Amino acid sequence: MNAPALKVSELTKEFGGLRAIDGISFEVGQGEFVGLIGPNGCGKTTTFNCISGLLPTSSGQVQVLGYNATGLRPDQIQNLGLTRTFQHTWLWREMTVIENLLVPPRRQFSPNLLLALLRPNSRKMEAQRLSDAYSVLEVLEISHVANQLASELSGGQSKLVDIGRALMSSPDFLLLDEPVAGVAGPLAERIFQNLRSLTASRGIGMLVIEHNMDFILRNDVDRIIVMDAGRILMEGTPDEIRKSSAVVEAYLGSPEQNSQ
Ligand SMILES: Nc1ncnc2c1ncn2[C@@H]1O[C@H](COP(=O)(O)OP(=O)(O)OP(=O)(O)O)[C@@H](O)[C@H]1O
Ligand SMILES: [Mg+2]
Repeated sequence: MNAPALKVSELTKEFGGLRAIDGISFEVGQGEFVGLIGPNGCGKTTTFNCISGLLPTSSGQVQVLGYNATGLRPDQIQNLGLTRTFQHTWLWREMTVIENLLVPPRRQFSPNLLLALLRPNSRKMEAQRLSDAYSVLEVLEISHVANQLASELSGGQSKLVDIGRALMSSPDFLLLDEPVAGVAGPLAERIFQNLRSLTASRGIGMLVIEHNMDFILRNDVDRIIVMDAGRILMEGTPDEIRKSSAVVEAYLGSPEQNSQ
């Protein structure tokens, strides 16, 4: 693995009496494409919420791109180069796709951006952002919907716009929470391939939550981290995961999980 872009050490998160994350540790390298999977309620989204600063951790450390990010605010963590998407896509429905891309990612708004926009050369910056937005749409192969209202998009297109909005901040690291949930099979695979090629072409590290084990095993990720009940059950290459009897018992054995 390359030098870790994300390092999580002994992370614990408790909600009252519930220990949602129980001392997990893992690393993701720069340019790596890693899947985070596990049954419903096992703590995947909470892990993202703690890494991205949305929730305070109960204990443990988070390092982002070499900096200690523990206890920082979401916008400070975003300034370190880490951006995230949310499990439930939320776009400005009455704005066009391109307008949505020009709005900073939800809950990661940095006051610095407002200051930058108020500077005298803001028009030049606006033109640059517009050109960046069109480039992002090209990368995601959705340039044809640039001027459509977000309310007119399909679920899959909305997911792509959400990822596009995350890419607008030129992140060095992306946390994607179920980017293809509810997206039809072939399009979901296509999105995954596009994400994978972005890790290579832009050197972005990505940690991607996916609830469907079959899907993640079929797609080309570098490594998979399997969570169960707040802990890491196993991590390894797709081949190693496939051969693990612990994972098969705890996860693949459940017909409910496989059918989702
Ligand atoms: N803000 C919160 N307050 C109280 N409990 C919470 C909170 N967020 C999550 N939890 C609980 O923590 C546990 C882990 O939830 P989390 O959303 O992280 O799971 P998940 O793995 O993302 O599940 P899913 O696959 O359904 O998205 C669950 O029992 C959930 O009810
Ligand atoms: Mg979740």
